[in-house]
Amino acid sequence: MEIVKKIAELKKTIKKIKSKNKIIGFVPTMGYLHEGHLSLIRIARKHSDYIVCSIFVNPTQFGPNEDFNRYPRDLKRDEGLLKKEKADLLFYPSVKEMYPDGYKTYVEVEELSSILCGKSRPGHFRGVTTVVLKLFNIVQPDIAVFGEKDYQQATIIKQMVKDLNLDVDIIIAPIVREPDGLAMSSRNTYLSPEERTNAIILYKALNWAKDSFYKENIKSPEYIITQMKRMIEEKGGEVDYIAIVDKNALTPVRYIKKGDRILLAVFFGKTRLIDNIEV
Ligand code: PAJ
Repeated sequence: MEIVKKIAELKKTIKKIKSKNKIIGFVPTMGYLHEGHLSLIRIARKHSDYIVCSIFVNPTQFGPNEDFNRYPRDLKRDEGLLKKEKADLLFYPSVKEMYPDGYKTYVEVEELSSILCGKSRPGHFRGVTTVVLKLFNIVQPDIAVFGEKDYQQATIIKQMVKDLNLDVDIIIAPIVREPDGLAMSSRNTYLSPEERTNAIILYKALNWAKDSFYKENIKSPEYIITQMKRMIEEKGGEVDYIAIVDKNALTPVRYIKKGDRILLAVFFGKTRLIDNIEV
């Protein structure tokens, strides 16, 4: 596996690959890889001949009081995992390489970026779309794979690709979970053993909500959200939001129907976890 840190060098490599008419698959990450990330690489492989993975903890998507500095990093471990998955190239740029002094340009998907996680994390999605667009311009992938774990992020990226006529097919991959149901996340390492045990309630509450619709025909978002909140708070979780939304517009629904999405963000201690499920 090739490891490239410089944009100019990566562009040269990509040119060579493109001249061989290879289909380039791309998986952008912030590293500290887990099975969720690796599942995206496996999916990318099915659709492409040359796999690029990026690891870049992107400062522009972190708020001033968020965890940019303490975000977990372990390049050696990640490198080993990517080699095992037979990724072809790891792009591992520095912050200076991506945002040199005097950097001034940002891209924002309106409306979708200011609700749900965007409301609690102002500027977060502006940072995500900016870095993803930059990475797309550098890597020039034919396909790129994102996880459904970050449902709002995936929706926003699809919108950006459509609005800006980008030549990349976006594939959305299912959520990979721990055996007890907790959605895999690099941030799970922040949890104390007690918080880790309590965090199982998120997936339980999501499933309870889905079952209430299918088994008991409950269609009231207010009722479901109130009950979920109670279940989560009983386990020490502090709810940032729970929302039942239209799967495309991400706006709250009046009555729950098949295909809607239940999204949540919950703090356990200082750690903010997100999860979601399709109704
Ligand atoms: P990161 O949190 O490292 O996630 C990278 C990709 O892995 C995202 O597409 C995310 O949705 C996916 N992913 C994370 N956990 C997953 C799980 N349990 N199951 C399936 N997929 C999972 O998301 C980001 O980084 C950044 O915002 C990024 C897009 C790289 C831009 O900086």
